[in-house]
Amino acid sequence: MYRRDFLKLSAAAVTANLEVKQPPFLIVSSANGLSAMEQGVELLRKGNDALDAVIAVVSAVEDDPEEMSVGYGGLPNADGEVELDASVMHGPTRSAGAVAALKYIKNPSKVARLVMERTGHLMLVGEGALKFALANGFRREELLTKKSREIWLKWRELQSDKGAWRRQLETVDVSVAKIISNPPTGTITCFAKDLQGGISGVTSTSGLAFKMAGRVGDSPLIGAGLYVDNDVGAAGATGRGEECIKVAGAYAVVECMRRGAMPEEACLEVLKRVSARYNHDRSRLKTFNLQFYALDKHARHGSAVLWLQSDKERPKYAVSDGKAAVLRNAAWLYEAD
Ligand code: GLY
Repeated sequence: MYRRDFLKLSAAAVTANLEVKQPPFLIVSSANGLSAMEQGVELLRKGNDALDAVIAVVSAVEDDPEEMSVGYGGLPNADGEVELDASVMHGPTRSAGAVAALKYIKNPSKVARLVMERTGHLMLVGEGALKFALANGFRREELLTKKSREIWLKWRELQSDKGAWRRQLETVDVSVAKIISNPPTGTITCFAKDLQGGISGVTSTSGLAFKMAGRVGDSPLIGAGLYVDNDVGAAGATGRGEECIKVAGAYAVVECMRRGAMPEEACLEVLKRVSARYNHDRSRLKTFNLQFYALDKHARHGSAVLWLQSDKERPKYAVSDGKAAVLRNAAWLYEAD
């Protein structure tokens, strides 16, 4: 078949696909959003704004003490304090808000939304973010749970070979040792398209576990951990924030879609840029992982991860079109040995 005939056929297929398959609304999130998706779907079904839906999904995960990478129960920094980062973008009004290194408030996504709606600023950090949240009626509370405190204590004890803080890794439970040896950078990113065609997104995290106090990752940075353009779509990231920031990850994914890439292809394209920064040297790339997620304005979606860690841990992302919330397979760039 000649290339131009193939292109004609592909264009026809894409048009048909858009006509037949586009759902009235859609939510996409990292896999840890699956259990909360129904709350967002309910709001979208009633005609609410996509931002209400994504905040509902993400704040439910922030409230969950068992989710150790987001909100309440998130793993703390090196000093044993939970510092949260989040950003929101509202496509229809093209506005954004963010908070970073926020302590004592379990829903940074909601505070980020208020920064967007109630201030002339885009981001508040640390003490200022906390003051703003308290002034707006948020409750100050301890975010460490018994479980996250115990994991931090073990991590702290392992950092020193002298003095009172002392422990051997062998004495630590295998599941905890795994967390300590490879501090997680889990995060939730979630975006939705509403019945009116508005697209909005939110990314929220407790950041890299045991980070230095004050360390800020990609999640609250517009263009890194989250980007929304109502004319194109939305993208977000989970994984090692520093690497995402260096390629302006979410923005780069949206720009690839603007140039015509499908969502999964756009995620892979930006992961190739991350890889290129290391001259595609797998031994250096192996020290971190990064996953991108994307939704375009036609409600097509996709995700890709830098490393497939093992066949048993296929990378996933969550999607709901109102019928059912399901996990979908993400693509990957490299397979670990
Ligand atoms: N992606 C979360 C972080 O690195 O902080």
